[in-house]
Amino acid sequence: MPKKTFASLVTIAIFAVCAVPAFAQVSATLTIHPDQPISAVSPTLYGLMTEEINYSYDGGLYAEMVRNRTFRGDWSGILYWYLVENGNARAKMEIDKSTGPSSALPTSLKIDIEQADARDQAGALNQGWWGMALHHDTEYKGSFYAKADSANIGPVTVSLVNDDSGKAIATATVSGIGADWKQFPFALKTGAMEPSSSNHLVISAGHEGTLWLQLVSLFPPTYHNRANGNRVDLMDKLAAMHPAFLRLPGGNYLEGDHIKERFEWKKTIGPLVNRPTHRSPWNYQSSDGMGLLEFLEWCEDLRMQPVLAVYAGYSLAQEHVNPGADLEPYVQDALDELEYVTGGPDTKWGAERVKDGHPAPFKLTYVEIGNEDNFDKSGSYEDRYAQFYKAIKAKYPGLQLIATMPLKNMKPDVQDDHYYVRATQNFADATHYDKADRSGPKIFVGEWATREGTPTPNMGAALGDAAWMTGLERNSDLIVMASYAPLLVNVNPGGMQWETDLIGYNAIKSYGSPSYYAQVMFASWLGDHTVASKLENAGAKLFYSATINTQKRQLYLKLVNASSDPQPMQIALPGALPKAMAKLVRLSAPDTQTTNSIDDPNRLVPVEWPVHDVSSRFSLTLPGYSIQVLQIDLE
Ligand code: AHR
Repeated sequence: MPKKTFASLVTIAIFAVCAVPAFAQVSATLTIHPDQPISAVSPTLYGLMTEEINYSYDGGLYAEMVRNRTFRGDWSGILYWYLVENGNARAKMEIDKSTGPSSALPTSLKIDIEQADARDQAGALNQGWWGMALHHDTEYKGSFYAKADSANIGPVTVSLVNDDSGKAIATATVSGIGADWKQFPFALKTGAMEPSSSNHLVISAGHEGTLWLQLVSLFPPTYHNRANGNRVDLMDKLAAMHPAFLRLPGGNYLEGDHIKERFEWKKTIGPLVNRPTHRSPWNYQSSDGMGLLEFLEWCEDLRMQPVLAVYAGYSLAQEHVNPGADLEPYVQDALDELEYVTGGPDTKWGAERVKDGHPAPFKLTYVEIGNEDNFDKSGSYEDRYAQFYKAIKAKYPGLQLIATMPLKNMKPDVQDDHYYVRATQNFADATHYDKADRSGPKIFVGEWATREGTPTPNMGAALGDAAWMTGLERNSDLIVMASYAPLLVNVNPGGMQWETDLIGYNAIKSYGSPSYYAQVMFASWLGDHTVASKLENAGAKLFYSATINTQKRQLYLKLVNASSDPQPMQIALPGALPKAMAKLVRLSAPDTQTTNSIDDPNRLVPVEWPVHDVSSRFSLTLPGYSIQVLQIDLE
């Protein structure tokens, strides 16, 4: 039986693959010259791209457990909040537009309690993001802003309550609520319990009076124990992808449907109470808890570099800002943003970052000007890009500036290409960049995916992805970075706005799709140079890339057999002295439809095999529908 290891992602097979002596019946020959490097592999080739889509942050990576913590309402009421009237208690609740704790949050939830006592309390409950995940013996830290019409309201009870039993699992008491807005922290500690997401939060009082609440927040333990931080299970999955960069903050999310709904970074920094929240183009409100500094700290946690996209004057509903004087405030806003990210404490915006709790500047190499500006029918991008380019280069000559479409009037440093395709297209297009002009801009494949499978890709999509990635690696002298998109999806009903996303989750658990594992495999064995190679007599849909890690003297072969037939193969390493034992990591499936899901998360996971008897010429059979990395150590 295989046993789990390799950061819990890969299964190790205790039986081995034996390299078959060279003259077995084979139909393909792959000849590799490990000591003939062709070109450098970009060390930043694989990274992450996310945005507020599919409840990626709110209800996803950003660990906040309270949904609609700032009490937005619509015709149906106050979203995800309900009145609590235990026993004989009587109360009503509404949005009060006349009072709130800050100019960013000028409204609040007003609860008028007409009758309540210590046993029969009244208040409000929050359902969380399709529930609230609770684990045993764990502390959940929270806070709210509150005020009351009189001290009579007495202590307020905060409880985590099981949906089914109605029993409180953890309770805290908050006292001292007075006539002025103030933040009240609390902690809720669970005891022995089965992990469950069928829970909700209740805030209630046992006295008559009026209570106002705003910014009710609750966090589980987070990755690296950051306050206002990220979910541990999802961060662990991202860390296993060895990402070199994070493209932030989007995607369409950068642009917004309308100019006033763009990602206004200045409204996403500082204390949460100063963040007004804004509408994402993916049709829900963003809490902006994942603000600019949180994005950067996420980069820090996973040792990625930020690829910062700045708003460049185009929003999705065909709204654009004319280049020239009209665009100047947006250019200045981008310059301020770069100063916030990279500036010292002696700069205006660097000092603001220090005030926000991060004294050290962040390393920044790439800045993207806009997103998918080919959709701007006004044709204004050439001039908008040029205006941003001039201003940014004048102050930051070392930055590499990415254009979001091909330009005619100037050569950008880097061009961002996007591909959302079916597997057949990726098989046909795996050589896309093989003959690309090397005198043009460098390429960032800032969004790409094989879109087959929902909510997450199936094995067929993973094969398309892997075929495509062999082309990215082969051409990584040109392609400096590439990122799959979208990365995350909440699989609850209503959670998904875009089909085929790499990692799925609900409130309590998460899983990687076959495409996720293909990414993990490719990024874990990147190498630093491509080497000379030749494939002969290959069957249909066979793809490969060959790289070497010159420091470790390891050869990495990515071998993708997307056909239904096994592919026998001879591997020849003329002049090389491979060690007899190699390592093979394989992801394979009986068909293209097989996939992982929230209830069957480990149906397809990579399996690691030792390969014995490797020599300068040996054979290997690739099963149908398989992706593998072969690591060969060289003398
Ligand atoms: O990844 C989903 C969307 O696809 C991105 O927001 C956008 O840039 C692209 O069109």
